[in-house]
Amino acid sequence: MKEYTTLTSEVLTACEQVKEQNNTRSLETGKAPRAYVLTFGCQQNEADSELLCGLCQKMGYEITDDPKEADLILANTCAIREHAEKKALSIIGGFKACKRQNPDLIIGVTGCMAAEAHRREEIKQKYPYVDLVFSPASRHRLPQLILEKRMSGKRVFCPEERDLTMPEGLPVRRKNSYRAWVSIMYGCNNFCSYCIVPYVRGRERSRKASEIVSEVEALVGEGYKDITLLGQNVNSYGKDLETPIDFADLLARLDAIPGDFRLRFMTSHPKDAGKKLIDVMAASSHVARQFHLPLQSGSDKVLKEMNRHYDREKYLATVAYLREKIPDVTLSTDIIVGFPGESDEDFEDTLSILNEVKFDQIFSFLYSPRKGTPAAGREDQVPKDVKAERFDRLLALQNEIGLANNQKLVGKELRILCDGPSKSNPNLLSGRTDGGKIVFFHGDAKKMTGQYVLVTPKRADAYSLYETEQKDG
Ligand code: SAH
Ligand code: SF4
Ligand code: F3S
Repeated sequence: MKEYTTLTSEVLTACEQVKEQNNTRSLETGKAPRAYVLTFGCQQNEADSELLCGLCQKMGYEITDDPKEADLILANTCAIREHAEKKALSIIGGFKACKRQNPDLIIGVTGCMAAEAHRREEIKQKYPYVDLVFSPASRHRLPQLILEKRMSGKRVFCPEERDLTMPEGLPVRRKNSYRAWVSIMYGCNNFCSYCIVPYVRGRERSRKASEIVSEVEALVGEGYKDITLLGQNVNSYGKDLETPIDFADLLARLDAIPGDFRLRFMTSHPKDAGKKLIDVMAASSHVARQFHLPLQSGSDKVLKEMNRHYDREKYLATVAYLREKIPDVTLSTDIIVGFPGESDEDFEDTLSILNEVKFDQIFSFLYSPRKGTPAAGREDQVPKDVKAERFDRLLALQNEIGLANNQKLVGKELRILCDGPSKSNPNLLSGRTDGGKIVFFHGDAKKMTGQYVLVTPKRADAYSLYETEQKDG
């Protein structure tokens, strides 16, 4: 494997070459080239897109939010569920018209879908106007792929790379000036039986702690207040590094950075979310009192078949320890409804654990068979209507629990990081508590956006808190 310092200089050199070509074209056309980057999927993809945008700027592109005026379109796709793939393919289909308008337009597809052999084949056959296809592990190759496309005039299907060392020190264009994502590792080794991620993102690769510490120090220096560390299973951090370090050690090192900022992380796998990590969190001054601990199912039988390596008892013991050490922790989880073979009884086990734990928030998903994963090949798939009915029951129960939890915060003064005008109601500002709960309140957007403010909510629903008596302020 190449050392990433060599890779970094190769990428930057390619950026310069594309920039020169772009400059020549701009002189001819009289306008600067523009890039449009569309992101689907999880925070990892958001972070990858920020790097793609950074590379685009380095290549001389201005970032635009209108695909019709773009000279480069990148779709950063997700493959986690069928719906995500269908949506991306349909939008990519729409880019055909942009190409007709601007024949010099380069269209690239990356992200998890671009790492699936059958989707690559589909793009090859059915989307002839897509010029570049490259997996998430090859995202830094974008400048080289553009050069190759321009030289050869042919479509470029970058080999399906998965386990590459990611180069450090590449430019990143962050969307937000006070909240930032920091990937600490890539890939996943867990092979949960329903999940496509290990197949498309490759094996776990941790970034060096020194690189992560420098990045977070720089962000804090620039005024970032909320930094989320990303990895599919952050608890595995460091297992592949030469210097012995685990996630709890990394978190402690980051916590030692001086400044007024909060650290968050996702995702923590319940099989290895240990006491050491919880102890570090409890003793820290910067780690937010928030924990996302994906449960997936409350049934031991289903958990075993999902290859999750924990049972109900272990999960509940972790939650108990977490609440003992951090009593006000905000707890969220992921639930899959309708995993193959899930019986009524199994589903009741999920409802009962929800009643026991009383999560602040759940992210629930209908099981979606993913080609190539063990669960997709099972014959005992749960019928659609049964899945839908269970899903509704799950949401109804969680709405009651979420509401009761949020009502406990009514009348309490909360420290909120303000995100500016709310998208649903521009008369109100929105922001998030230390635990990540959304709060709506009145205030001066110019003064407060990106700042901490104190708000005392008067009202709650299952999802949010309100400083105002009326929903619309
Ligand atoms: N690494 C994280 C999860 C990443 S995927 C973890 O292990 O918790 C985010 C969520 O998508 C998962 O927690 C799971 O609930 C859901 N998910 C993954 N594969 C799915 C599938 N095939 N169908 C439905 N939901 C799925
Ligand atoms: Fe998927 Fe499991 Fe890895 Fe999470 S831990 S990304 S659910 S395989
Ligand atoms: Fe989707 Fe890939 Fe993230 S499949 S959820 S974008 S890791």
